[in-house]
Amino acid sequence: MRIEQAETETPPRTGLLVDSYGRRIKNLRISITDKCNFRCVYCMPAEGLPWLPRAEILTYEEITRIARVATEIGIEQIRLTGGEPTVRRDLPELIRMLHSIPALRSLSLTTNGVLLTKLAGPLAEAGLTRINVSLDSLARDRFAQLTRRDALAQVLAGLEELEKYPSIHPIKINAVAMRGFTEPEVLDFARLARRKPYVIRWIEFMPLDADQIWRKEDILTGAEIKAIIESEFGPLQRITTGDPSETARRYTFADGIGEVGFINPVSEPFCAQCDRIRLTADGQLRTCLFAQNETDLRAVLRSGQDDEALAQAIRNAVWHKELKHYIGDTRFRRTARSMSMIGG
Ligand code: GTP
Ligand code: 5AD
Ligand code: SF4
Repeated sequence: MRIEQAETETPPRTGLLVDSYGRRIKNLRISITDKCNFRCVYCMPAEGLPWLPRAEILTYEEITRIARVATEIGIEQIRLTGGEPTVRRDLPELIRMLHSIPALRSLSLTTNGVLLTKLAGPLAEAGLTRINVSLDSLARDRFAQLTRRDALAQVLAGLEELEKYPSIHPIKINAVAMRGFTEPEVLDFARLARRKPYVIRWIEFMPLDADQIWRKEDILTGAEIKAIIESEFGPLQRITTGDPSETARRYTFADGIGEVGFINPVSEPFCAQCDRIRLTADGQLRTCLFAQNETDLRAVLRSGQDDEALAQAIRNAVWHKELKHYIGDTRFRRTARSMSMIGG
């Protein structure tokens, strides 16, 4: 693997997606809308953001074409994100279209869960196999304070609905960890992980919020949360699939019942093992969550270029993938887009 230095070699013209530091890129996260029906304080302003004009958003056909070409050059997993992906009309239709791509090994969705009571069945039927649901509090008033929507009961009902469809597995819950907010409910979430077939994961708060409320002091590390859990349940046992690009450090309890995980991008950056790229709803390819530059794949599509040109545009962008995010370093720069426009 290369160390920090200017890139001199030119991108390969054939073969699987690889960046100039030797990382193999296998994971594509596609944001299908910038709109959301929540207003989480760590993500969006209360009044929302200026939404992208419809004409700028990729159609399902355009998304599927990019996905197909990307899988032909090495993408194996696709995750759909938002904004909130379930607010886009006919989402099961897109799942169906992506599910029919032969080389795709995994198709998943990250959602706030509020529409799952209606959508879980149609999504399962269309071929969705994995899901991550964001849930930051199990208390109605605190949930409403954080998301600015009184919708906890609806999200919990959505999770229950998911349990009826065993083809969607695992069900993961993501909670953003914020100092002063998260601590009081850590044990309640740990109990939920033991009582229900949900994997609970805490994500360290990152400077991607539109309101720019993020302060270093607000980070509650995975290690701190783990210590809270262990003070009640005793030592956690490390588990792993062996996939080096896993974002979460995963653990089970001493008796083997329940799984929790810690996504620690700030205290334990995992950039060296990163296998991810991102496509925004308006067709811009981002090679890092914190990227300063984007590659306009929509322009490639809409100027009538062929699949080879599209593949080469993706290869070129990937070749210039950023080394790391620099959070906590003087070199760190906020990105022009905030979380809801990138998709997490
Ligand atoms: P699985 O573990 O495969 O389910 O996926 P995941 O953890 O990538 O998916 P999810 O959408 O649940 O991501 C959880 C959060 O982890 C994201 O929203 C980000 O906050 C964080 N994360 C995921 N990928 C990256 C990354 O490349 N860099 C950083 N810094 N954070 C990431
Ligand atoms: N820092 C860390 N995680 C965040 N998410 C949204 N904003 C932030 C942030 N500033 C998480 C959401 C969701 C995923 C897509 O990203 O909770 O689970
Ligand atoms: Fe919406 Fe997700 Fe952002 Fe919350 S974190 S406002 S649910 S996009």
